[in-house]
Amino acid sequence: MGNREAIRMSLKEKRVIVVGGTSGIGLSTAKAFLDEGAKVVIASRSAAKLSEAKQTLGGNVEAYELDFRSEEKAAEFFEKVGKFDHLVITAGEGAMGEFRELPVEQAQTAFDSKFWGQYITVKAAIPYLNQEGSISLTSGVYGKRPPKGASTLAAINTALEGLMRGLTVDLAPIRVNVVSPGIVDTPVYAGMPEEDRKSMFNAIARQLPVGRIAQSEDIAEAYVYLAKNGFTTGSVILIEGGALLS
Ligand SMILES: NC(=O)c1ccc[n+]([C@@H]2O[C@H](COP(=O)([O-])OP(=O)(O)OC[C@H]3O[C@@H](n4cnc5c(N)ncnc54)[C@H](OP(=O)(O)O)[C@@H]3O)[C@@H](O)[C@H]2O)c1
Repeated sequence: MGNREAIRMSLKEKRVIVVGGTSGIGLSTAKAFLDEGAKVVIASRSAAKLSEAKQTLGGNVEAYELDFRSEEKAAEFFEKVGKFDHLVITAGEGAMGEFRELPVEQAQTAFDSKFWGQYITVKAAIPYLNQEGSISLTSGVYGKRPPKGASTLAAINTALEGLMRGLTVDLAPIRVNVVSPGIVDTPVYAGMPEEDRKSMFNAIARQLPVGRIAQSEDIAEAYVYLAKNGFTTGSVILIEGGALLS
């Protein structure tokens, strides 16, 4: 029997950074790490969201403003935060629209956020990240099965999974993985009229083997698993309620 500690690492007192930790999947992930006894640092652009999240989370939380698309701001952020153990990135904005209609500029803006933001953040983080630690990026099930209008997100999510495979080799022994969620009920859909949102969620839920869409807590568990499990690297954890089979 091997040493259990070597297989499943405790997160007690470990410093975990969640970029995007002020909303949705990131906020639930910050909470899940706190429940494991970790010290959590959250970052995003909005000062208001940061202070609200800090109040919601309570406990052992530091909060910093960061626009993860900027190399300069990312460098300043990690310099302020200093050494840490695990990096989780859930920040990112996508773009939906039928390929023939979506302006190239909107697709590029989405790449600048969800793809390049994660790329830039990882690059800036490396000097401060524990070699026994981990990096978890976020893609999405549209990378594997895009509905109509999701070609940009399909490309971004697939690019992120390719980036992760390259980083797994380049950054070893640091472990690198991706979480790929299906549809999750988060504030990202807050701009939709409530009735439209409900009927979209219900229609998707009816198609899924699990019969419901995800809550952000369903996804948060995956990031905790990836930080804890010392034998998992180069993986994509799909949490999509069976969407690929429906
Ligand atoms: N919800 C879903 O159905 C779903 C499905 C598949 C994949 N995903 C992916 O999961 C991730 C999280 O989604 P979510 O639904 O939790 O979204 P969300 O509730 O909108 O949260 C996004 C978070 O990212 C931060 N953020 C956005 N742009 C940023 C920037 N430039 N710099 C720093 N922080 C930034 C936001 O805070 P600020 O506004 O303060 O910056 C917020 O904290 C995204 O990559 C999304 O594509 C979501």
